[in-house]
Amino acid sequence: MKEKVLMEDIVNLCKQYGFVYQGSEIYGGFANTWDFGPLGVELINNVKHAWWKRFVNEDFRTYGVDAGILMNPRVWEASGHVESFGDPKMDCKKCKQRFRADNLIEEYSNGEVAAEAMSNEELEKYIDDNHITCPNCGGFDWTKIRKFNPMFKTSRGTLENDADTVYLRPETCQGEYVNFLNVQRTSRAKIPFAIAQIGKSFRNEITPGNFLFRTIEFEQMELQKFCHDKDSMEFYEDYKKRAMDFILDLGLDKEKLRYHDHDKLAHYAKAACDIQYKFPIGWEELNGIHHRGTWDLSRHSEFSGKKMEYQDPETNEKYIPTVIEYSIGVGRLTLALLCEAYDEEKLENDTRIVMRFNPVIAPYKVAVLPLVKKYHKDKAEEVFKILSKEFTCTYDDTGSIGKRYRRQDVIGTPWCITIDDNTINDNTVTIRDRDSMQQITLPIDEVAKYISDKIKF
Ligand code: GAP
Repeated sequence: MKEKVLMEDIVNLCKQYGFVYQGSEIYGGFANTWDFGPLGVELINNVKHAWWKRFVNEDFRTYGVDAGILMNPRVWEASGHVESFGDPKMDCKKCKQRFRADNLIEEYSNGEVAAEAMSNEELEKYIDDNHITCPNCGGFDWTKIRKFNPMFKTSRGTLENDADTVYLRPETCQGEYVNFLNVQRTSRAKIPFAIAQIGKSFRNEITPGNFLFRTIEFEQMELQKFCHDKDSMEFYEDYKKRAMDFILDLGLDKEKLRYHDHDKLAHYAKAACDIQYKFPIGWEELNGIHHRGTWDLSRHSEFSGKKMEYQDPETNEKYIPTVIEYSIGVGRLTLALLCEAYDEEKLENDTRIVMRFNPVIAPYKVAVLPLVKKYHKDKAEEVFKILSKEFTCTYDDTGSIGKRYRRQDVIGTPWCITIDDNTINDNTVTIRDRDSMQQITLPIDEVAKYISDKIKF
C-alpha cells in the first residue's frame, strides 16, 4: 500500500494508459482542458451510469431531463449569474498572476474555512490577518478584490446586428428549474419529486488546475428535489446521507470523507453542506447539498411571468415548492476514485501498480488472454464474443502471461480469463482475481454469472 498517493502518480498513469490526455495535445495543449481516452470514457460512463441508476432509475419520484447547454439569456438574469455571479479575484502585484481569493483561503486552511460565503471585506481581512502569500512567487502584495464573471459568452444570429449574447451554461441545474412545470405536467408528478440531469457546464475559472479537479469545461450530475417547505429539512438530511452512501458504495474510503456544514448561508437558504474528500492536494469539496428555499422557482416566476406553483391535489393548497439541490462533478468524482484506487503493492520480487476500482466502475470488467496465441486464439475469440455481450471486455495476446496480468492490474481490470488447452479440451477457463491474484477454474458457461454476481451495485 502506498503511504501517500501524489497527484503526479495519477496524472502520469492516466496519460500513460489512456484514461486522460492533455486537451489538443499535438498543438501544445490547451490549458486546463482534458480529453478522456479509451479507458477514461469507459470509467466516466460507468460513474454516470451508477449515479443515474441510483438517483433516477431506482427512485420512481425522480425524473431525468437533458436540457440545452444554450438557454435563453433571461435564464441567467433570473438565476443571478449575469448580475452577481462573480468570482472574487485578486492579482499578485509582484508576478501578475490572478487568483480567486476564496480558493486561496480554502487551500490555506485545508478546506476548514468556507470562504465561498465570505464577503469581499472578510476575504481581504482573512488573507491579511493570516499573511497568505502568492502560491506562484511567494510575494505578499495583493490588489483589492474585484468581481470577475466566469460565464463564457458567445453570440447567436447571422448578422452582426442580430447578434445576441448567449452564455454557455455554468451549471446544469437551471435546465431542471425551467422544466419544473413541463415535467410536473407531462409526468403527472406529485410533490415531493425530483428532476435530475447529467451534462456539461463551462466556467472561465480564474484558478483552474489540479488535473480534473477544477477545469473550465466539466460535467455535472445535479438533482433538484421539489418539496413542501415543511418537509424540506427531512429531504435535506436524506440527500446528505444518500450522497455519502453513493460515494462510499463506489469505493471511497470513509476516513477520507467528511461533511462540511456551511455556517454562512444565502439569505433564502436554511442549510448547506459539502462533502469533502481528502485529495492529494488536501481536503476539498467533492459535492454539495443545498437547501435553496423557494428562491430559484420564485426568480423564474418573476422573470418568465409563468407561475412556478404547485397545487396539492388533496388539500388544494397552492405554493411555490422548496428546492433541495444535490450536485456533484463527474470529473471531480472520477479524480477522487482514481486517487482512491491507486495502489503500489510490494510483492516478493517486485512491486505492482494496481488500480483497485470497484468492479462497477472498472473500465474493463474482463480481460480475455489466450495463453499461447498460436493454439488458443480461436477459442479466446469465441469466449470474448460471449462475454462482451454482457461486460466491457478487452483482449490481449502479447507477452508473457505474467506481464499481461500486470497490464490489466494497472488499468484496474478485476478479472483475467486465461484460455489454454483445458479450455479447448473441456471448456473450462482460469479466472484470476485482480486484488487477491488467486485463480479458480470454471466452465465457460458459468463465467458470466460468476462475474455479474460480483458487480451488483
Ligand atoms: N448548481 C450548483 C452548483 O453548480 P457548485 O458548487 O458550483 O454548485 C457543484 O458545483 C459541483 O460541481 C462541485 O461540488 C464540483 O464537484 C463540481 N464543479 C464545480 N466547478 C467545477 C470545475 N470548475 N471543475 C470541475 N468540477 C467542478
